[in-house]
Amino acid sequence: MKLIHLIAAARPNFMKIAPLYHAFNQEDWIEPVIAHTGQHYDVNMSETFFTDLRLPDPHIHLGVGSGTHAEQTGKVMIAYEKVIIENKPDLVVVVGDVNSTLACALASAKLNIPVAHLEAGLRSFDRTMPEEINRLLTDAISDILWTHSPDGDDNLLKEGIPKEKIQRVGNIMIDSLEMIRDSIEQLNIYQEFSLAKSEYALITLHRPSNVDKMDTLKQLCLSLVSISTRIPVIFPVHPRTYENLLSFNLFPLLKKSPALHITAPLNYASFMNLLFHCKLAITDSGGIQEETTYLGIPCLTLRPNTERPITIKQGTNKLCKLENLDENVGAILEINQKACKVPELWDGKTAGRIVNSLEHYLQE
Ligand code: UD1
Repeated sequence: MKLIHLIAAARPNFMKIAPLYHAFNQEDWIEPVIAHTGQHYDVNMSETFFTDLRLPDPHIHLGVGSGTHAEQTGKVMIAYEKVIIENKPDLVVVVGDVNSTLACALASAKLNIPVAHLEAGLRSFDRTMPEEINRLLTDAISDILWTHSPDGDDNLLKEGIPKEKIQRVGNIMIDSLEMIRDSIEQLNIYQEFSLAKSEYALITLHRPSNVDKMDTLKQLCLSLVSISTRIPVIFPVHPRTYENLLSFNLFPLLKKSPALHITAPLNYASFMNLLFHCKLAITDSGGIQEETTYLGIPCLTLRPNTERPITIKQGTNKLCKLENLDENVGAILEINQKACKVPELWDGKTAGRIVNSLEHYLQE
């Protein structure tokens, strides 16, 4: 039996480890162990995802919580090092680009435990983003780099990563979506907001560059209020954004518009149900850029760059500046959408390809 740790830490990680956990569990030679660092700890940022994705409670919980970047990364490293010394995994799988991804990769690599990074090679080329630093460093010390698009392979090769370490396995987020599609399709969450299919926009915002400065966040709120006069808006508010809206006293501004529906963060199935049926999404999330491309839904990404360029080249995504948001929303409402193509290997079969990859690596 090979003991494989799956590191889960923050909301976007849970849907990436779920299909892996279920696929590993079917293999008689893998013992999967879920290690939750506790970076996200609110019920609706963590626990509900375990329920929706049919995951067991984490086998290991580090309970690290929030902090500055160094505090959070350092605390995860210290706590996880103790776990791996005792637990001796044969391999550690880290996903995505959050602080815990880097922390667990680093703790493992220093103890010579092989690390596999799922979603390797993504680059925004913007080192002011904490995630870009996490991506660069995690990829530099990982033993297996699983990518989801050709640009990921190219970026890694340019950074001098040996070709043998890179394997294109596809997009695991599509596996999670397809895994629970039936539950997603049974819901009609838009009705809870008294809205109709294809007649609302869905918004998510949490990047520090959009929500941490009062001026930017105020402009964003004004823009959302203005958009809501043309199409109703549903806005599930991330905890970081919530804290800032509160401390900058911006909730009264948002509440001025009855067509702007503010809600707490939603569980995975409910959020996906809203995404399936929205007219357009406005976001600064990485995952939503991919999910909208897969679903063929127009997406405006409020960022100057993206580490997921394939969603622009082939998909429905468009980068958008705050000052052009209104006009871009207008264009989508008037003209309908651009043609798009689902990228290769975004097919719901990524977990199976990962099992094959591990079989080669661990049983050689
Ligand atoms: C983190 C990831 C980001 C990812 C995002 C998804 C890093 C550097 N950032 O950003 O890449 O896109 O998760 O959500 O790893 N908080 C709560 N409850 C929680 C979690 C957080 O209230 O369950 C609050 C805390 O006040 C915390 C703040 O949100 O300080 C930010 O949380 P943190 O995990 O540091 O970063 P995110 O902005 O969530």
